[in-house]
Amino acid sequence: MFTISVPASSANIGPGFDSAGVAVSRYLTLQVREADEWQFIHTTSLIPTVRKFEDHFIYKVAKQVADWHDCTLPPAEVTMESEVPLARGLGSSASAIVAGIELANQLCDLNLSEREKLDYAVKIEGHPDNVAACLLGGFVVTVKMREEASYKKLPAIDTDLVVYIPNFELKTEDARKVLPQNFGMKDAATASGVSNLMISALLTGDYELAGKMMESDLFHESYRAKLIPNYFDIRSNARNLGAFGTVISGAGPTMISFVPNGEGEEIAAEMQRLLPDYEVESLKLDENGLQVKVNINN
Ligand code: HSE
Repeated sequence: MFTISVPASSANIGPGFDSAGVAVSRYLTLQVREADEWQFIHTTSLIPTVRKFEDHFIYKVAKQVADWHDCTLPPAEVTMESEVPLARGLGSSASAIVAGIELANQLCDLNLSEREKLDYAVKIEGHPDNVAACLLGGFVVTVKMREEASYKKLPAIDTDLVVYIPNFELKTEDARKVLPQNFGMKDAATASGVSNLMISALLTGDYELAGKMMESDLFHESYRAKLIPNYFDIRSNARNLGAFGTVISGAGPTMISFVPNGEGEEIAAEMQRLLPDYEVESLKLDENGLQVKVNINN
């Protein structure tokens, strides 16, 4: 019937804590066909298996959205392929939520707008930074105030990305526990100034300055650095190899570098040599976000 593809995402980008996010070129893909009963088939090992379809996370999201529209989901066979590792800071739950919303949108013919999809995704995920990036693609800045999320996608960012994925998981709730409960006015003003300048630098193509601001975050990086072995080495080695800036991806433990366009593969290969226990990969920013392709042959 149709294929849904959703990119992974990296939230925060240093000082854009709980606000900024980028979509990256790893994907969760769902191939959906009409069927007599519900079935989820996983072709990759990164997706948790469940015994009953009712317990499948994607089904639960789709059912919730269908219920909000008084629609009964028609059964489908969903073949899933994922390149998004779980609990590594690459937005696996956001990708799954956006995919589940689109599944309901297609199966129930809801004709949801981008705004409605984002509102549902924020309602389910609780925060907009990952879901907005994977829905819209590119670099997206968001803010949630009084339960309402506002968002704006930046013009295309002309850099490559390098990700450093360690072989252990880190739950967001554990990475939030190490953060301070309060933040003084003076520090908050400086921290938001750093974030503003990072965004201005990205908008004007000054990637050197953007990278410097990425690495000047005051909101969360210094507290979380201790949860990530090699944090300081990854930063300094990447910088020596030409990276503009390296930050924690979301709540970690993955880290991500913004590097000059065309240099991602070479920097990733060198960094992989220095970090044999990590999965190091050159990625692109995904500018497309959620994609749906109707298969006319079925
Ligand atoms: N902004 C969130 C955090 C991202 O850093 O805790 C995690 O999903």
